[in-house]
Amino acid sequence: MSRTHFKAAALSAMLLLPFAVTAQGTPYSVTNGHELDAETYEGFKLYRNWCARCHGTYGQGMVGPNLAESLNIISKEEFFSVVENGKTGTIGSMPAWSSNPQVMEGREQLYRYLKARADGAIGEVKPKKAK
Ligand code: HEC
Repeated sequence: MSRTHFKAAALSAMLLLPFAVTAQGTPYSVTNGHELDAETYEGFKLYRNWCARCHGTYGQGMVGPNLAESLNIISKEEFFSVVENGKTGTIGSMPAWSSNPQVMEGREQLYRYLKARADGAIGEVKPKKAK
């Protein structure tokens, strides 16, 4: 391989890598500040039905902690596990959701919405489903 070819290959690897990381790190898409892709919007609806009464309308916290902050700290695996098993700690007590199929099957979607909140991609605003 000539030097030029090698450089070109290294350069394209450098250009592709950050893109792949970003695509994986953002499992949602937000347009115009409040329009969510269908899966993420489903996550918001689930959130509103099952979680908002304790964690606030948009996850900003109430009797339960601010989840927009929590999701910057806990991993996706921890999120899945806390939702499944519940949590009792210094703040209070959250029920387990293991016997609620809507929540259990929607954990990925819930994570998408809350991750978008944690990344600041959507603020404390009412989301809409993007067309
Ligand atoms: C009855 C009130 C209540 C409901 C409903 C509720 N939670 Fe919680 N949640 C809590 C409390 C209280 C804590 C804090 C427990 C502690 O650490 O003291 C918590 C903690 C959590 C944590 C861990 C946060 C961290 O920083 O460790 C996650 C994640 C979470 N809740 C997600 C959810 C999701 C998703 C839903 C909806 C499916 C939900 N919660 C519904 C009360 C609730």
